[in-house]
Amino acid sequence: MRGRFITLEGGEGAGKSTQARRLADALAAQGLPVLRTREPGGAPGAEAVRDVLLGAGPWDGVAECMLHFAARREHVARSITPALAAGIWVVCDRFADSTLAYQCFGQGVPRAVWDGLAEIALDGLRPDLTLVLDLAPEEGLARAAARGETNRYERMGLGFHARVRDGFRAIAAAEPARCTVLDATDTPEGVAAAILATVRSRLSPS
Ligand code: TMP
Repeated sequence: MRGRFITLEGGEGAGKSTQARRLADALAAQGLPVLRTREPGGAPGAEAVRDVLLGAGPWDGVAECMLHFAARREHVARSITPALAAGIWVVCDRFADSTLAYQCFGQGVPRAVWDGLAEIALDGLRPDLTLVLDLAPEEGLARAAARGETNRYERMGLGFHARVRDGFRAIAAAEPARCTVLDATDTPEGVAAAILATVRSRLSPS
C-alpha cells in the first residue's frame, strides 16, 4: 500500500522541525515505516541548491521559484515518490506551499508562475495532509533570532513575513480538505498533541 505524504508548513520560528521530528517518532512508535525530510533539501542535489538559496541573493523572483522547484523535483523524484511507493509515510518540513507563500504572497511572483512550475515538477503529487503552524511573525522572528544565526529569508522585513503568514492562511482556507491550521503559540507538547489528533482523524494510521 502507498505511504501517506504529510507536510508541515508555516512561517519562521513556528516549530515545524521540532514537530516534524515528534510526528515522525510517534508514527514510527506505532510501527509505521517513516521518512522525515525537509525542503529546500531532502536529496543530495537539493541540499546543494538549499545552500545557494539560503545564502546568496538577491534573486529575480521567478529565478528563485525555479530554484526551489528544481530542488523540489530532485527531492520528489529521488526521495519522496520512491518512499511513498514502498509504503513509507513521508513527513516533510515544508513543501510547495512554502513557494506559494514566500515567493508569490511574500515576494509578489505571479501565481501563474507557481502553477506552471508545479505542473512541470510534481507529476501531480500533492500532500495527503498539510499542517500549517500559525504564529504572529513578530514572535516567530524573535524565536528564530534567539536560535542564533539567521538565514537570508529570516532577515527579510516584518511586512514580508506578515504577507507570508497571510499566504499560508489563504492556502489553508482554499483547501480545507488537505490543510489544517494549528496555533503555534501553544507549548511544543500541546502542538504535538493537536498534530497527532489531526493525523489520527484525517489519515487513521493503524
Ligand atoms: P527552514 O528550513 O529553516 O525553514 O529554512 C528554509 C527557508 O527557505 C525558510 O526561510 C523559507 C524559505 N523557503 C522559501 O522561501 N520557499 C520555499 O519554497 C521553501 C521550501 C523554503
